[in-house]
Amino acid sequence: MIQEKISYMTNGLKHSIEEPGRDELLYWLQENDEIKLRQLWQTADRVRRELVGDSVYLRGIVEISNYCRRACTYCGLNVTNNKIVRYQMSAAEILHCAGQIKDEGYGTIVLQAGEHDCIGAGWMAELISAIKRRTGLAVTLSLGEREPQELAAWKEAGADRYLLKIETCDRRLYNKIHPPRQKGYWLNRLQMLEYLKALGYECGSGIMLGLPGQSYFDLINALHIFRELELDMIGMGPYIPHMDTPLGKESVQKSSDQQVPAGDLITYKMIALCRIMCPDANIPSTTALATIKGNGGRLLGLARGANVVMPNFTPMKYRLCYDIYPGRVAADRDDRTVRRAIVHSIMESGRMIGCGPGWSPGFLKKQARNVSLEYKG
Ligand code: 5AD
Repeated sequence: MIQEKISYMTNGLKHSIEEPGRDELLYWLQENDEIKLRQLWQTADRVRRELVGDSVYLRGIVEISNYCRRACTYCGLNVTNNKIVRYQMSAAEILHCAGQIKDEGYGTIVLQAGEHDCIGAGWMAELISAIKRRTGLAVTLSLGEREPQELAAWKEAGADRYLLKIETCDRRLYNKIHPPRQKGYWLNRLQMLEYLKALGYECGSGIMLGLPGQSYFDLINALHIFRELELDMIGMGPYIPHMDTPLGKESVQKSSDQQVPAGDLITYKMIALCRIMCPDANIPSTTALATIKGNGGRLLGLARGANVVMPNFTPMKYRLCYDIYPGRVAADRDDRTVRRAIVHSIMESGRMIGCGPGWSPGFLKKQARNVSLEYKG
């Protein structure tokens, strides 16, 4: 039955993409036979080619600060970790990185930081407009949960996109790994995503895969939530335990049939299913995947549904301090050489490098819809 449906999906793609049912999603998430999985990879790759094309879009990420007020139990930047040296880049340093990103031919800069007041609303707004003025790059923000007026001010200043991962769709697990700042927290992120959409941001979210206590149903729910939210970007990577975090210190986990493994295979499966469920979203082959599986893993992510890569432009002197999880790739090598090697390998795999900002086709369609509604009055 699954085969028939997949082949229907493949053949009839231009006209309709049939949404896989929950049973089918569960089947693929638990299937480990490489021959059978080939069908999933091929379908995802074909959907990717038809809906978003062969271009791989590069986003240059700059980790502008590692201060964080949150106590997320999986993340090395959490406020209780006093082993890391905290830093905040100056506006001049960030502008320098933006220039490099532009010079290397990328269309987008991603500014990421822990959630903290040291990223002031006014300072950030000025920085965004300076980057836009000097480089014209698309600006993506990934700065955690922020106030509505800050998000509006940054949009006004020229920001184009916002990434806010929900990390898990299981409310109990979410609450366990995200000690709250205030009440009503899980909904905060979904509400914030809706608010970002209303402000006109291109919106991204995602989850980690293999969190202790995470079940396959969480992944299935996440796929449905991503689809309902009509996300423009969806990022997923394996959970990597960090020994200086409460979750990383938890000793041997109770393992059950329902526990999602934290590895590369589940990541490829989720990338592929996400491509089928949300065909016109931008889907990165994430750094966490490359951390556990190297550049080969990154290329497999691209071959199984992904179309975006986010090379790192954080200056070397700060890079090791942005210690979200251990072993982040290329922390100790010349970054320009590493980035060139990534680009080279993508081109060798038969893909091209995308030019310009690389909006998601879904976002462009939504914008066209809004313009035509306005026009019709
Ligand atoms: N393992 C894997 N990914 C992690 N992130 C944070 N901590 C970890 C970890 N231990 C991811 C989250 C976050 C992104 C910046 O890094 O998905 O949103």
